[in-house]
Amino acid sequence: MAVAEQKFGVRPVHRGRRAAGGIMLEKVRLGFVGTGGIANHHLKQLKEIPETEIVALCDVVAERAQARAQEFGGRAFVDYRRMLDEVEIDALYVCVPPPAHDDIELRAAARGIHLFVEKPVTLSLAQALEIRAAVREAGILTCTGYVLRHLPSTQAALRYLKGKTVAMAVASRWGGLPAMPWWRVMAQSGGQLVEMTTHQVDLMRYLVGEIVEVHARYAHRTLAHTPTVTVPDVQIATFQFANGAIGSVTTSCALTQGGGKCDLDFILQNALLHYTTRELRVTPEGAPQPESVGDTLSINQAFIRAVATGDRSPILCDYDEGVRTLDVTLTANRSAETGRPGKTYFSEHE
Ligand SMILES: NC(=O)c1ccc[n+]([C@@H]2O[C@H](COP(=O)([O-])OP(=O)(O)OC[C@H]3O[C@@H](n4cnc5c(N)ncnc54)[C@H](O)[C@@H]3O)[C@@H](O)[C@H]2O)c1
Repeated sequence: MAVAEQKFGVRPVHRGRRAAGGIMLEKVRLGFVGTGGIANHHLKQLKEIPETEIVALCDVVAERAQARAQEFGGRAFVDYRRMLDEVEIDALYVCVPPPAHDDIELRAAARGIHLFVEKPVTLSLAQALEIRAAVREAGILTCTGYVLRHLPSTQAALRYLKGKTVAMAVASRWGGLPAMPWWRVMAQSGGQLVEMTTHQVDLMRYLVGEIVEVHARYAHRTLAHTPTVTVPDVQIATFQFANGAIGSVTTSCALTQGGGKCDLDFILQNALLHYTTRELRVTPEGAPQPESVGDTLSINQAFIRAVATGDRSPILCDYDEGVRTLDVTLTANRSAETGRPGKTYFSEHE
């Protein structure tokens, strides 16, 4: 009996179906927990993928789940435990705020349901490691919401950087304050670096390599007098990569009247690679430019294809990868608290 089954005493009333031996699932039956902003975005994309069927949607705000069910199909629930008990689901999208993951993934894994988990995968590394163990034991497919890995510019950068020495990677993500009340509370979002700029940290891991040490400083400056905002409004972290490269990220949510930037630069031997989600540029003038890779699969196309065919290769960021990126950003939070550099968990344990 699986550990998660023992823990919850749930009998697997059904298991997420597996595509195997060349047999494909004609329709992937999908459930959602959390039907807010990002769920709506995924639902719109999934509607365009013919191999999907939305069968169940759960939100603690009943009207929200009902409204999505009316638009996209499926039964609406307020309790994900009941949803998992009552509906046959092949794959579950987990789109709740970071501290709300609870036992959603463990219950789904115990039933053999494949998982798409939004980033950050949770706010607790211990919980993430427990979920990682459960999904490994269940042998299910997993994907985490690091969408940038799937962009053509990221794939072109990956190809361009292959075999080159990255000396330093520098990211900036500066903008305004998201509207969701939970986002503004440190205990609920983990702050901008953990919640949002995790995308840039993940890209650095994907394109440069593992990060082993982090030194961070945070400050509350311009939003310090806004009582509902407890996240720092400016954050800076420096990174030591295992391969010898160094890096930094700065992030800010202080620009509430607009403006800002989102950049990632790589210093190479005699060249600077400038990355954005839309294009890549190498300077100095006249330097060979990265080759285009053409169209890539979106993260939803990749996940559905993997579940439908049983071939996990289209997935570019599985649960394990999501946990490793979380590890870096939580190490930054600890470093900012203690004022000292910190080693990442994975640099010391695996
Ligand atoms: N990959 C991306 O680019 C991207 C973009 C935006 C958000 N996200 C991530 O997606 C997650 C959700 O963000 P959002 O913007 O959709 O937030 P949101 O507040 O718009 O939606 C979250 C929804 O979850 C519901 N919810 C909370 N606890 C629940 C529970 N126990 N059971 C069922 N429903 C529950 C809330 O009622 C809400 O409707 C966050 O982790 C966020 O970081 C990822």
